Amino acid sequence: MIEAEFWDYEDADELADAVAGDVAFIIESAIDARGSAVIALAGGSTPVPILEQLADSPLDWKKVMIIPTDDRLVPLGDELSNATMIAKIFLPKGARVIPLISEKAADYKLAGSAAAARLDDLHWPLDLVWLGVGNDGHTASIFAGPDYEDALNAPAARKAVGVMPDPLPPEAPVARVTLTRSAIQSAKTLIIVAKGNDKKAMLEQALKDLDSSPLPIGRVLAGLETPIDIHWCA
Ligand code: 6PG
Repeated sequence: MIEAEFWDYEDADELADAVAGDVAFIIESAIDARGSAVIALAGGSTPVPILEQLADSPLDWKKVMIIPTDDRLVPLGDELSNATMIAKIFLPKGARVIPLISEKAADYKLAGSAAAARLDDLHWPLDLVWLGVGNDGHTASIFAGPDYEDALNAPAARKAVGVMPDPLPPEAPVARVTLTRSAIQSAKTLIIVAKGNDKKAMLEQALKDLDSSPLPIGRVLAGLETPIDIHWCA
């Protein structure tokens, strides 16, 4: 059993208000306690309006470091790049955005190793990991495929790996770099933000199945010791 609570909202605006407020509070508390905050944000499209709202919060953004939970193996500036999406929103506020993808990585496994090395320099555990969930049940970039077990069962010290999803997701059919399950689970605070009835049903089932889930989201949540809030609207 893991401790998961659903927060259902009337619409996308209410969802954005609540999530932006919660995340601002998490950041502010970390800055108060330690002088800085380190957070990991999901990519994809659901977070964008919420992040834009969050960026308007009057926080000391210079003390905030942001990484994507995962990224696509594309150059910075590419429209598929999660780091670019995050940078466009938060660099103007003064936050530091650390991409997972190294420009020089020759292949996805090396890109994963380079990301892991880069992440070792950050303050751990992360103050927040914000996950999304795909229609196929992936989360961060933990997908079925040849690297699935590596992403799920990497040793605790290994914070990121390269993955080649199989099948490739149609919305971004490229190799990825992702936080590992242990890096995700080590976060001080963990949230999921999702939209749509199908995703709610999927999440409810994944929370029942956990380790026996056919979906990455179930496997990633299995054994989680931190309570998780799931923010959702239809
Ligand atoms: C990615 C993401 C991924 C995302 C889901 C859901 O880069 O692919 O980080 O895990 O959260 O695909 O995306 P949406 O919420 O936009 O459907």
